[in-house]
Amino acid sequence: MTKITSETEFSPQAFRRALGNFATGVTIVTARSPEGEKVGVTASSFNSLSMDPPLVLWSSMKDAKSCAIFESASHFAVNILASDQMDMSNHFARRQEDKFAGIDWEEGIGGAPIFDNCAGRFQCETYDKLDGGDHWIFVGKVIAFDDFGRSPLCFHQGSYSMVFSHPGTTPRAGEPAVKGLAERRMGNHKFFLMLQAVRAYQDHYRPKLETLELSLIESRTLVMMNELTGVNAEGFVAYLSAPLPEVREALLNLTDRGMIVTDGDGYTLTPLGEAKALQCWQLAESHAEEAFDSFSDTQIGNFTDVLRGLIDQ
Ligand SMILES: Cc1cc2nc3c(=O)[nH]c(=O)nc-3n(C[C@H](O)[C@H](O)[C@H](O)COP(=O)(O)O)c2cc1C
Repeated sequence: MTKITSETEFSPQAFRRALGNFATGVTIVTARSPEGEKVGVTASSFNSLSMDPPLVLWSSMKDAKSCAIFESASHFAVNILASDQMDMSNHFARRQEDKFAGIDWEEGIGGAPIFDNCAGRFQCETYDKLDGGDHWIFVGKVIAFDDFGRSPLCFHQGSYSMVFSHPGTTPRAGEPAVKGLAERRMGNHKFFLMLQAVRAYQDHYRPKLETLELSLIESRTLVMMNELTGVNAEGFVAYLSAPLPEVREALLNLTDRGMIVTDGDGYTLTPLGEAKALQCWQLAESHAEEAFDSFSDTQIGNFTDVLRGLIDQ
């Protein structure tokens, strides 16, 4: 347990990491100033607030370039991103001159830009602004919304992820099965079985990953760097399914721990990093071996073919 008291040294990184356990969706919140300047910001702080009146909220860093425009705008729009909109999320999370150049958008209520292909959209009148420490909390009264029902983009522990329906709990060793799972109709459904298999595989793998003392992004970075040399932080964004600030933090941590070095252009593994990358890879391999140990080569070959076939459909 980390207690925050006035005497203890408080680590913002550890606080952020602990907060990262709370999985969220990802939105782009947009607005237009009375003078016509458009802003758009990637935000995971969006949440529902009230049904009557219909209110939503999100919070903006007070020192964000766009914040003053959200403060002066009469309206804002919340675009909930779909799982294939990771590039949009990365784009609007970056400070740049004109974020809307080369992006398809339409003008929404009050001039706030709205995007196609989202999971959902809420167009709001600015209703209230509350002080939230280094953030302003903006409350919006929803005056129009769209529900496209597309699978959403999620954010968890610094990486992007996707939602799959929960396959339910499998009885732990020694626990009686509620009802013979395999005999039930759901229990034999291929999709349901795939979800159960992925969950069981991950459940056994996660505790092993912890022994490496690396975050998920850090271990992925090392494994990636075994294959690629001289890639910079921006280059890693596409490979790691994580936003630039999280990639930069991972690269900084790995540099501090002597596992990677940079010449200013790109990163390479040090001998220590190579050894750790090998350890990550061996852990993944040995876990796969253990998981598939009780199956024959023919069964594993067929299984791999079936998976490839499903992916190519
Ligand atoms: C997944 C993700 C979630 C974010 N959530 C927020 C948020 O809720 N509020 C915020 O102010 N910034 C958030 N940011 C950071 C902003 O998107 C980023 O600082 C952006 O550059 C601000 O835009 P501006 O520089 O045009 O003001 C988030 C970034 C990412 C990648």
